[in-house]
Amino acid sequence: MSVSQIFVAIDGPAGSGKSSISKAAAERLGYNYLDTGAAYRALAWWVLERGMPTADSDTIVDALPDWDYNIGVDPDNYYVAVGETDVTNAIREPRVTSVVSSVARVPKIREHVNALFRDIMRSAPQHGIIVEGRDITTVVAPDAPVRILLTASEEVRMARRSAELANEKATEVADQLRKRDAADSRVVDFMTAADGVVTVDSTTLTFDQTVDAVLDVIEQQTSRT
Ligand code: DC
Repeated sequence: MSVSQIFVAIDGPAGSGKSSISKAAAERLGYNYLDTGAAYRALAWWVLERGMPTADSDTIVDALPDWDYNIGVDPDNYYVAVGETDVTNAIREPRVTSVVSSVARVPKIREHVNALFRDIMRSAPQHGIIVEGRDITTVVAPDAPVRILLTASEEVRMARRSAELANEKATEVADQLRKRDAADSRVVDFMTAADGVVTVDSTTLTFDQTVDAVLDVIEQQTSRT
């Protein structure tokens, strides 16, 4: 880690655009980028692959030392791997999305994964890293000099997600998104900004305007420190 490494924490609900916005902002700044949701997805993928029941949290916790997870933090070379297998695309499959919340809600799993995130953040090669997820501003990096909650109205989030997954029915997508947000928010509150966290609401903003708004917050917060 370089001495002056800057941590930028971004949280937000599904469909808020936080992954693509965070990645684009990291590219613009020459920062690293960490997608923490991908870790929970990679674990859920591995649990399915091994045939472990997703509801059996004790078995999953016991197996965690064998879970060999690897993620690229260069925003221009993003990948997620488990062991030798590249799972960058597989972790986005509906079968993974439908079970990831039940894996992510287990406290011992969260502790294990959070320790990995902190190691990755500390050893990131660039002088800054944008870390995005659900509990980065509150649990993983509450001391980060820049903390942002990226939101958008439910209607807009659903419309964006349906557009991404053009082959699925819009109502099904909306239903899944609502269910997943409801399940995930029972574990961590990512719908309201904690003290000191700056809200960026992208409801009426284009993609580029949202990236600019995030970059403005980063600029303001880092120039104050
Ligand atoms: O952002 P995403 O949809 O890829 O996240 C996948 C799941 O992981 C999501 O259901 C919530 C969970 N998650 C979490 O609990 N904490 C995080 N820091 C990131 C994601």
